[in-house]
Amino acid sequence: MTDISSLRVEFLNELIEGGTVSDPAWLAAFRDIPRETFVPYYFTQRPNQPGWLLVERPSREWLEGVSSSRALITQIDGTDDNVAWARTGRVQGVATSSSSAPSLMALMLEAADIHDDHRVLEVGTGTGYNAALLCHRLGAGNVTSIDIDTDLVHRARERLAALGYFPHLAAADGTAGYQDRAPFDRIIATVGIPGVPGAWIDQTALGGKVLVPLDLAGSAGLMALLTVNSSGTAQGPFLPDYGAFMPLRAKGHQTAMDVLATVGDQDADIRETDLPVGQVANAAAFEFFAALVTGGFDTLGFTPNDGGPPETWLTQPDGTWACHTTHPNGTQIVRQGGPGRLWDNIETAHRTWQQLGQPARSRFGITATPQAQWIWLDTPSNVLITSPAALSSPAHGLDQFHRHGGQESNFLDIGL
Ligand SMILES: C[S@@+](CC[C@H](N)C(=O)[O-])C[C@H]1O[C@@H](n2cnc3c(N)ncnc32)[C@H](O)[C@@H]1O
Repeated sequence: MTDISSLRVEFLNELIEGGTVSDPAWLAAFRDIPRETFVPYYFTQRPNQPGWLLVERPSREWLEGVSSSRALITQIDGTDDNVAWARTGRVQGVATSSSSAPSLMALMLEAADIHDDHRVLEVGTGTGYNAALLCHRLGAGNVTSIDIDTDLVHRARERLAALGYFPHLAAADGTAGYQDRAPFDRIIATVGIPGVPGAWIDQTALGGKVLVPLDLAGSAGLMALLTVNSSGTAQGPFLPDYGAFMPLRAKGHQTAMDVLATVGDQDADIRETDLPVGQVANAAAFEFFAALVTGGFDTLGFTPNDGGPPETWLTQPDGTWACHTTHPNGTQIVRQGGPGRLWDNIETAHRTWQQLGQPARSRFGITATPQAQWIWLDTPSNVLITSPAALSSPAHGLDQFHRHGGQESNFLDIGL
């Protein structure tokens, strides 16, 4: 199977067999909207080679990429200059836009329970592909999509117009929502957000829903589906599935590499631990809970040149870090530094999670008001995490946290 139509059949089968699309209306959208129109090129990495390579139309590799259910990186460091540079070799940098994995998009579109007459705001236009799927289902008049990057919005508009779709697109910071077109029945973000923006609650119709991939620094992959109720509160569970997105473009956050570059000069606390790092960086189990309690962390593997044991580095945007090693005799050593004590906090979270019976992510939920947000287990009255480290309210500044007063029963405050 090599031509585009055969690859498209494989792609649709993958979505159906993977169980991500069951609604015929979404299946029709995925069948009819050509992803290749929205992704004329993408960047890729090769194992053990630094930098990004460009994969362009009409190469075979490009065709297979755009016909796959993989996420494809479409922009590096927020500039198109990298496309031209990548034609002459590798480029270095951070991915700033992508065409999200269609399987994840499908999962989110179904989970958001979108009906034919709904007015939807998408935050994170990117290539425009998801906006096209929404237009196919709802009609362009019901679709608003915003992205912080003016060039991306411009290009998405051209690609959508080429298919005959003219939704309302705008270059805007998604954390403020989009008041001009409110109220919305659904707000769906395809970018990681460090909390539920108050503006989204205000701009969603009563009974409407907000689907937020939470960005907790690392790869917790938590997606919350909240329903907005009459008291200006939104609440709902985390989806059972893992879904990680690139973070909001925000200034002042150190990446894992930035943090690592500072470490040599710092004092570190060193001690033994009996918690294997594999249990922490385990997306299928504990990692989401560690991220909720600590505020999240990036994970990086590193093999020293001096023949020492492999190191696993966990870093936070404020420069906090921990480095875990398992020595040949089985001893596990952790070093910690920066403003916080990340491994101590992870161990506390792990003990709590064990005591709770290792609950899965879908047993947790979030309640958000424009002023505060908190995490509960099984039922909104069973508030578990009020930690200022866990969530921020981006509408009020990315680094500002709000502490919940808490009148609920069974209150177990494990804030750190
Ligand atoms: C994963 S991509 C979105 C993929 C897109 N839905 C598609 O179908 O191609 C995430 C997008 O979020 C955008 N973004 C980042 N920070 C943002 C912000 N503060 N407000 C709005 N969009 C933002 C990025 O520019 C990027 O294009």
